[in-house]
Amino acid sequence: MNKDKVEIFDTTLRDGEQVPGCKLDAEQKLVIAERLEELGVDIIEAGFPISSPGDFHSVSSIAKLVKNATVCGLTRAVKKDIEVAADALKHAKKPRIHTGIGTSASHIKYKFNSNEDAIIERAVNAVKYAKTFVEDVEFFAEDAGRTDNVFLARICEELIKVGVTVLNIPDTTGYCLPEEYGAKIKYLKENVKGIHKATLSCHCHNDLGLATANSIAGVVNGARQIECTINGIGERAGNTSLEEVVMVLRQHPTLGLDTGINSKLLYDTSLMVSEKMGMIVQPNKAIVGANAFAHSSGIHQDGVIKNRETYEIIDPADVGVTESSIILTARSGRAALAYRAKIVGYELTKVQLDTVYKEFLKFADTRKEVLDEDIHQIVEISGITT
Ligand code: KIV
Ligand code: ZN
Repeated sequence: MNKDKVEIFDTTLRDGEQVPGCKLDAEQKLVIAERLEELGVDIIEAGFPISSPGDFHSVSSIAKLVKNATVCGLTRAVKKDIEVAADALKHAKKPRIHTGIGTSASHIKYKFNSNEDAIIERAVNAVKYAKTFVEDVEFFAEDAGRTDNVFLARICEELIKVGVTVLNIPDTTGYCLPEEYGAKIKYLKENVKGIHKATLSCHCHNDLGLATANSIAGVVNGARQIECTINGIGERAGNTSLEEVVMVLRQHPTLGLDTGINSKLLYDTSLMVSEKMGMIVQPNKAIVGANAFAHSSGIHQDGVIKNRETYEIIDPADVGVTESSIILTARSGRAALAYRAKIVGYELTKVQLDTVYKEFLKFADTRKEVLDEDIHQIVEISGITT
């Protein structure tokens, strides 16, 4: 089946780097940008150039370095922001300016003390101005998740008239349900005149743990770009996690969608970003967490030892993890003990295994995990000579 491509817009270096404690220096950003390109992302959002001289410098250095991916800089719908971003991106082979403004009733009233018509005018002027510097201009309708669909469609239509190339529909506050977010994208596809001239993009935050589900609902309903970060880092509860959306599409070929990501680099890239940002990945994180391919209960271990696919839907090698691991705990069974004992050099008979297993359980009840070196001690206490 011929699959439709979903473009991956990585914002680890912008939305991700905004997180307290995740700040990177220019050199670290260059190394990550290089890796993102190797990974196969289509767009790298390198920063928010007007925010600081350091960020300007980083965006400019990344623009010079990157060969294949589009390099993008964020701006508000403000002339000076756009001029500074254009300057930072001037050496990029494929530059994109990402400009935008809040569109929800709450943003229009409380942030801008404005009204819908004035917001449309500011949005149109920003896109028109950005187009005087670069061809590729993306617009974000901030808080689109809580924006009335009829108004959202109106603003999108006006922006298409002035040549916007990508329409970003952020669920900025992570509020939407997947059905709701999917329906929003479908509504825009069906009601915005000229929508085929622009790509719809999903930018979902994870406040309710729905960022990945919402992004998938978005592409199923016609969006063709997902904005995401390595390890799902980003404002508050984070953004859509790159590794998750890539693997959801890969593991569900019937969706007819795929990305250009080299999934074998996912685990290593996750480690690299975690280490450089000093941001630990939770062990139970999907795809890249330390426990994502670790099995510790007896029932699961028995299944995995017989056939990995009984409890694993992804081959760990596909995401760059060397192998599944069988962790020994007090919940482990004989199959797991025999399996690990064999790895460390003991080929136990059934009778020997019964004896060692009794000692193992006593020992395991006193520990969180039984390590390979503990197995030698347990075998010795059991009085087994092999
Ligand atoms: O979450 C958001 O709305 C954003 C925009 C700046 C794209 O990060
Ligand atoms: Zn965001």
